[in-house]
Amino acid sequence: MTSERFLGLIPAAGAGERMGQPKPKQYLDLLGRTMLYHSVKALLADTRIETVFVVLAPTDQEFKQYPWGEFGERVAPLFCGGATRHDSVLNGLLAASSTAEPDDWILVHDAARPCLGRRELQRMLDELAADEVGGILGVPVADTLKRADVAARIQATEARENLWQAQTPQMFRHGLLLRALGRTTKLSDEAGAVEALGLKPKLVQGSPTNLKVTYAEDLQLAQTILTSRGMKP
Ligand code: CTP
Ligand code: MG
Repeated sequence: MTSERFLGLIPAAGAGERMGQPKPKQYLDLLGRTMLYHSVKALLADTRIETVFVVLAPTDQEFKQYPWGEFGERVAPLFCGGATRHDSVLNGLLAASSTAEPDDWILVHDAARPCLGRRELQRMLDELAADEVGGILGVPVADTLKRADVAARIQATEARENLWQAQTPQMFRHGLLLRALGRTTKLSDEAGAVEALGLKPKLVQGSPTNLKVTYAEDLQLAQTILTSRGMKP
C-alpha cells in the first residue's frame, strides 16, 4: 500500500527582481503579513498536509524575524535555496529526505501564490491521492490567443482547445520528483520534469484567483482577493 502522507514544499529563495522592490517579494507586505505567510497558511489550510517545508536562501535573515508560532511544528524552514527555482526545489527535496519517504506526496507551491483557495487545494488532494502519477492545478485558457510578430502585429489566431495555464501546487510523490528533477535543469515547473520521464500528470481544475504575484500591480490584486474572503489587516 502506498503512503497517504502529504507534505508541502514552498520555494521562497528568489530575489523577486520583476517586482522592482528593495526586498524579495515573499517578504512584501500583504494585509499586514508577508506574502510568504499567506502562501504557507493557504497550504496548511488542509489538515491532511502534515508539514510545509519552506526553502530559503542560505543567507536569509528575514524569515526568523516573523512569528510562525500559530503553525507550531507544521512549518519547517530549510536554508538551502539555490540559484534557480529548480535548484531550490531540488535542494529542498534532498533536505526533506530525512523526513519524507519516497511514496509521500509533495505539494510544491510557489511563495508567490498567496491566494490559493481552500476548495481547489481540497479538490487536488481528493482527485490525486490515488493517482499513479500526480498532477497540478491549472485553469483552461479562456481568452482568444494571438501569435504576434516582432512588431506586435498579429500573425495568427491560435487554437485554444485543450490549452491550460499551469499553476501551483504541483503534486508528485517524493521519489518520483527527485528522479525527475535530478535529470533536467531547464524546465520551469515540476510537471515538465515529470513529463520528460514519459508520464502524464493530471490537470486539476483550479481558479484564476490563484494568481502568481510577479509584478507590483499583482500584489494589489492579491490583496483584493484576500480581502474579499474576509481576511483583514
Ligand atoms: N524561487 C526560489 N529560488 C530561486 C528562484 C525562485 O525558491 N532561485 C522561488 C521564488 O521565491 C518564488 C517561486 O520560486 O516563490 C517562483 O519564482 P518567481 O515568481 O520567478 O520568483 P522570483 O524568481 O523571486 O522573481 P523574479 O523572477 O522576478 O526575480
Ligand atoms: Mg524567477
